[in-house]
Order: sequence, then C-alpha cells, then structure tokens
Amino acid sequence: MSPLHVTRTLPEDATDAALRADVLSGLTVTPKWLPPKWFYDARGSELFERITELPEYYPTRAEREILATRSGEIAAASGARTLVELGSGSSEKTRYLIEALGSLTAYVPVDVSESALVQAGQALVEERPDLDVHALIADFTAPLSLPATPGPRLVAFLGGTIGNLLPDERAGFLASVRSLLAPGDGLLLGTDLVKDERVLVRAYDDAAGVTAAFNKNVLAVVDRELGADFDLDAFDHVALWNAEREWIEMRLRSRTAQTVKVPALNLAVDFAAGEELRTEVSAKFRREGVTAELAVAGLELTHWWTDEQGRFAVSLSVAR
Ligand code: AVJ
Repeated sequence: MSPLHVTRTLPEDATDAALRADVLSGLTVTPKWLPPKWFYDARGSELFERITELPEYYPTRAEREILATRSGEIAAASGARTLVELGSGSSEKTRYLIEALGSLTAYVPVDVSESALVQAGQALVEERPDLDVHALIADFTAPLSLPATPGPRLVAFLGGTIGNLLPDERAGFLASVRSLLAPGDGLLLGTDLVKDERVLVRAYDDAAGVTAAFNKNVLAVVDRELGADFDLDAFDHVALWNAEREWIEMRLRSRTAQTVKVPALNLAVDFAAGEELRTEVSAKFRREGVTAELAVAGLELTHWWTDEQGRFAVSLSVAR
C-alpha cells in the first residue's frame, strides 16, 4: 500500500494570527464583519454537515446529483492523471470523480483542517492502494505550491464555496488557480445559481434553526480562541437576499446595546441595539457571469452541467 503523504504549508500558529487580525480589523470598522472561514471549528463543521441534510438546503444534494450522473462525462473530458481538490473537507462527493477517472494516479486534497484531511486520506489510501494520495494542509486562498505529480491536472473546487469570496477575491483566486495549471489542464467548479428569492432565503434560514446555530458559532469560536465574552443569545440570525449583488448575506443582529470584551486583543467592542455584524456572503451565479470570470483568468468554459431542477451548476473549464 502506498503511504499517505501529508505536507503542512501552514505554520501551526498561522490560524491564531489570522483570526486575531480578522477579528481586530472586522470589529473595529463600520459595518462590522467577520470572514466565514471562522465558522468551521469542530462544532461548526458538524453543524454544516447537518445543514447539508436539511430539507431547505438544496446545494449539496443538487451538486451530488450532478457528480453522480456526470462523473463519466467529466472524466472523459478531462482525462486527468492528478486530481487536486481545494477545500476537500470529507471528500465525500469526490468519490464519484475518483472512481470515474480511469487514468488517475494522484489525488491531492487541500484543506486547512488536518483532521479532515488525514481521516479522508487514510480511508482512501486503504480503498485505493494504487493511488498516490498527497494531502496538503494549506489555505487555498493564499498562493499554493503543488507536489510534482503527473499531468494532466484537474483542480476541483466544489460545494459552491467560491460564492463565499467577494468579487475581487474571486478574481484573485481564479488567477492563482490558473497559475497552478498548464495549458490543457482543467478546473471543475461548483456554483450555486440565481433562483427564486424565497427558495434562497429558506436555504439560509431553516425552520429547525441549524443555520442560526452555525452562524452564531463564529461568536463561540472568538470566545474560546480570544477569551471574548460574546453572549450567543444576545444576537439574532439574519439571512437576506441582496438582489443587486446577487448574493445571500448572513448577519448577526445585536438584540440590545452591549459591549463585548476581547481580552486577547485588548479590545472592547460596542454594539448598538439592532446593529448587524456581517458573517458571510454566498454569491449565486449565472452561466454568463461564470464564463466571463473564468475567461478573465485565462480559463475557457467548455462544459456546464446542472441538476435536473437547474438549481446548481458544475462547470469544466480549460487553461489556455
Ligand atoms: C459551504 C460555503 C458553500 O455558502 O452555502 C451554508 C456555507 N452557509 N449555510 C454556503 C453555508 C450557510 C455554504 N458553503
């Protein structure tokens, strides 16, 4: 059996320094904001897993439907020998691709979570002793360097996570993905699509309150990591559709006027009653927009697959 290689490109304390910087800059500006990557500690990841099973949250099921039905076409179009998966998490949906890619020799999952990587990597190494699994502990929003595995390469970025980046960040991200590719290599991208506002808002404000708990979990992360005294019950979960930007925004609205202390930063943060802290944008896309953003980065869209109901798209583009 070939071993599981694990490479750490993030220093152990990088997370802590980045969290401090984000909390300091985000809570001292108006409007206040925190980046969505801080949702995902162990509890946040578990809450997200529960979100994916909610009746209202369709993206995960829609994308799984596409991968389950189209992985043969995707494999034939890409012919990849190396599959790189950004933000791989549990790698569950990727199994369809791995099984369909007949010439695959290397799988490179990239994630900030070492535990998720090692768990998923170990299971795969046992099932597929022929595959070279090279797990990378890295923040894919920063420049990456990939192991020297055979081409062609296919980089997969699934789940609709690209929607969590702001337009400028998206452009930078796509350019850096392009820099990992040789001409002819591919990008497989999952994007949630613009649709009826009620369907979108329900997906981010479910009846069981799981998304509300997920949203508030970022406050628990700041409490634990930076000694802050956020009271999760003193904030309400807000999900709204921004029709102009075509994105869902999640916010936390302060129920009362309050001051929150963040001892690790020597900071006291005042909230007015009703003041909102933005915690996530989740952009929704149209085919023309995806095609144009890819083209700017030097990627030509060649395939576009949606689920039966047209809610979610997986696109394949080729580096020029
Ligand atoms: C995992 C980033 C794709 O934006 O839909 C789910 C995260 N936020 N419910 C998304 C999320 C609220 C999710 N992504």
